[in-house]
Amino acid sequence: MKKLGRNDPCWCGSGKKYKTCHMAMDERIEQYALQGHMVPSHDIIKTPEQIEGIRQSSRLNIAILDEIEKQIRIGMSTGEIDRLVSDMTKQMGGIAAPFNYDGFPKSVCTSVNEVVCHGIPSDERILKDGDIVNVDVSTIYNGYFSDSSRMFLLGNVEPETRRLVEVARECIDVGLEQVKPWNFLGDMAQAINDHAKKNGYSIVREIGGHGVGLEFHEEPFVSYVTRKGTEMLMVPGMVFTIEPMVNMGKADIYIDDNDGWTVYTEDGKPSAQWEVTLAVTENGYEILTY
Ligand code: MF3
Ligand code: CO
Repeated sequence: MKKLGRNDPCWCGSGKKYKTCHMAMDERIEQYALQGHMVPSHDIIKTPEQIEGIRQSSRLNIAILDEIEKQIRIGMSTGEIDRLVSDMTKQMGGIAAPFNYDGFPKSVCTSVNEVVCHGIPSDERILKDGDIVNVDVSTIYNGYFSDSSRMFLLGNVEPETRRLVEVARECIDVGLEQVKPWNFLGDMAQAINDHAKKNGYSIVREIGGHGVGLEFHEEPFVSYVTRKGTEMLMVPGMVFTIEPMVNMGKADIYIDDNDGWTVYTEDGKPSAQWEVTLAVTENGYEILTY
């Protein structure tokens, strides 16, 4: 990192002098780095303008999920959900980020019951009474990325499955409580993992959250199975997702050999996930995808 002079323009592009902009924060970050902690590099710290761009993108993202919430019903195929996302995103001037991402064939991920994530929508997969489905919407607007997902319950869901969905939702809240500058991502991870465990559930280890905003998936990788006091330091301007995958049974997963995408629980028990995109602020966080 090039050392900036106090009176040089700040690296963030605000036009302000470094000493009145990010200098104090950089010095504090440096202290943590010297103690051996993982710290964010400048390129993952967003400016207020960039956060506004992500906020705008998030508006589309939320509107799409709200519309799915209105329309989803027993008898609908996940292929129909895909068309809804694709059409609505275009109509609002956005781009569906999943389409063609690493070759992903559709515009949204729809993950039903024992599918953990990355389910591929299909006209053959008809939603039925008792299903739980995660719909994961990722949106690009004016070059800015937003990412969020919700669970939907169809008809009469078994009470223990309903409970899984509720606890997965609570995991977001207990995680958010740990999001503030100078905490670590591991503080958030442990709070989430403890909450899942306390309820008899497990958290998927291999797949997690991510930085987001200027790209679909940015640094850091956000785990929900690491320990308090570890992982990257949180500082204002970081934007990332919280999206723990909570399994009713064991944490083990496997990927479908045929499509290369669909992730299943190894034991066939259901899995639930909610996802939010957030920005770390001066004293806590702002949820962008609500
Ligand atoms: N939306 C997922 C996430 O939360 C990523 C899906 S990648 C895709 O990170 F290609 F399957 F869309
Ligand atoms: Co995500």
